[in-house]
Amino acid sequence: MITIISGTNREGSQSLKLATKLQDMYQDLGEEVSLLDLRLLPSESFQPGAYANKPEALTQQFIAPVLGSKGLVVVVPEYNGSFPGVLKLFVDLLPFPESFECRPVAFVGLAAGQFGALRAVEQMQQVFAYRNAHLFNHRVFIPAAYKLFTEDGAIADNELESRLRKQAEKFTVFAHSLSPIKQ
Ligand SMILES: Cc1cc2nc3c(=O)[nH]c(=O)nc-3n(C[C@H](O)[C@H](O)[C@H](O)COP(=O)(O)O)c2cc1C
Repeated sequence: MITIISGTNREGSQSLKLATKLQDMYQDLGEEVSLLDLRLLPSESFQPGAYANKPEALTQQFIAPVLGSKGLVVVVPEYNGSFPGVLKLFVDLLPFPESFECRPVAFVGLAAGQFGALRAVEQMQQVFAYRNAHLFNHRVFIPAAYKLFTEDGAIADNELESRLRKQAEKFTVFAHSLSPIKQ
């Protein structure tokens, strides 16, 4: 299973729309896919006690699809020159070390600005590298994210769509050739 994390809880997020497109692409490749929408994090996740006592809904709906995945795809929007705080909170709530230890991880960045979340993705890569994930270095950066979709919800740029499909094809091979280490 490939698990896609949409990296914000912002209402109307372009990241979530993109994550659903990526879900289709991985399913087209024959992969089972789980999509994690951070808007649906249980409210107890934001309480101080959540680090020690994981809310049951967090464990079942968010932690289990991470631990059961062959690979993670993180959709990272750029917020203030970095990744969103809620994405880091989610990472911090995941069990250590088994969530990321030797787990294949791919990144797609998107931003309103011209650098397409390069900063946000590279900062996120540092976090995953620290946690000994297998980083997949074929990244996709999307500038002017407000123009990403047509009015009927299709990816507007065909060349970008084919780059995303290529990343998915290559990451599927990468993820299946490596296995997270069982703790
Ligand atoms: C709190 C916040 C901070 C943002 N900071 C940046 C930024 O530093 N650079 C940038 O290019 N875009 C920035 N944006 C725009 C987002 O990158 C843009 O909304 C994009 O569509 C991806 O995020 P989304 O999934 O929330 O739509 C910011 C958006 C928000 C909501």
